[in-house]
Amino acid sequence: MNILVTGGAGYIGSHVLKALLKEGHQVVTFDNLQKGHREAVIGGKFVEGDLSDQKHIENVMAENKIEGVIHLAADSLVGESMENPAKYYRNNFANGINLLEAMVKNDVKNIVFSSTAAVYGEPDQIPIKEKNQTVPTNTYGESKLFFEKALKRYDDIHGINFVSLRYFNAAGADPEGEIGEAHDPETHLIPIVLQTALGIRDKIYIFGDDYPTRDGSCIRDYIHVNDLAAAHVLAVEALGAGKESSIYNLGNGEGYSVKEVIDTVKEVTDRDFEVEVAKRRAGDPAVLIASSDKIQQELNWQPEYPELEKIISTAWQWHKSGGF
Ligand code: UFG
Repeated sequence: MNILVTGGAGYIGSHVLKALLKEGHQVVTFDNLQKGHREAVIGGKFVEGDLSDQKHIENVMAENKIEGVIHLAADSLVGESMENPAKYYRNNFANGINLLEAMVKNDVKNIVFSSTAAVYGEPDQIPIKEKNQTVPTNTYGESKLFFEKALKRYDDIHGINFVSLRYFNAAGADPEGEIGEAHDPETHLIPIVLQTALGIRDKIYIFGDDYPTRDGSCIRDYIHVNDLAAAHVLAVEALGAGKESSIYNLGNGEGYSVKEVIDTVKEVTDRDFEVEVAKRRAGDPAVLIASSDKIQQELNWQPEYPELEKIISTAWQWHKSGGF
């Protein structure tokens, strides 16, 4: 298929791009390079552009005879979204509408959307299923949920079929070592612990050890970025073959605490470093674990790297090599 990937120069987007190229798809990456890296776009065609410019998106779709869209471009810092909500409503919601309008103009009928577990907020049930309540506790999650609602409307009104993928905690790096996670600023646990192992940071802070969990620290469901990427390929191909719209969780169904992640990093890297307990970070739910049964059953998705040790070791290879 001819596929437009927005945000293809980012961490998850670059892994999606590589997976699509391996399957023989023709890919156009559309990215404003605000957070993404030009070096991460390892093939296909690259267009530097911003989703605020609807005309530009329309032209790119027409010139490249786009048949499907994978939409990952977004701002994704939960903390920032609670200081500057306008940025999140504009970039993640309003600019997403430009993309949908450009699809309507070009008669593009398929879109895979990069959503998030943050749409659930404080979960009412563990493991979380797609039909559980969605009450986001931050603007980031809300902006993603609003766009999911827009997708439903564009399906009803314009016949655009969508798959929304609600990621849990993306981690790891492509084992071939070409691409990996390189955020600035970095806020995610695993890369921060790895930077501490490398001596780039003095110590790692555990944000709260008084949660109602087995060791008091928060529990998350970590999923390898290549397993996420594979799900995008399955989803866009299924849409291309006529699949109707769906929402799927993407996680491993297994939770690890912050302390367990730190211990695993110490084992994998064979390095010791200082760990300090700090106060809770605002808005962190105690436990987030996905049920991914639905995508396993309906799209036959199977994670290739479900083990935390493997996820961390691929990320470690990347960080040790110095990244981009
Ligand atoms: N944590 C620490 N110390 C750190 C960094 C993180 O203890 O230095 C803790 C956090 O408090 C949390 C856990 O490690 O309990 C994981 O934190 P991350 O920031 O890596 O990930 P989050 O679970 O907060 O958020 C991720 C994505 C969001 C998405 C969310 C959905 O980054 O974009 O999952 O669940 F919204």
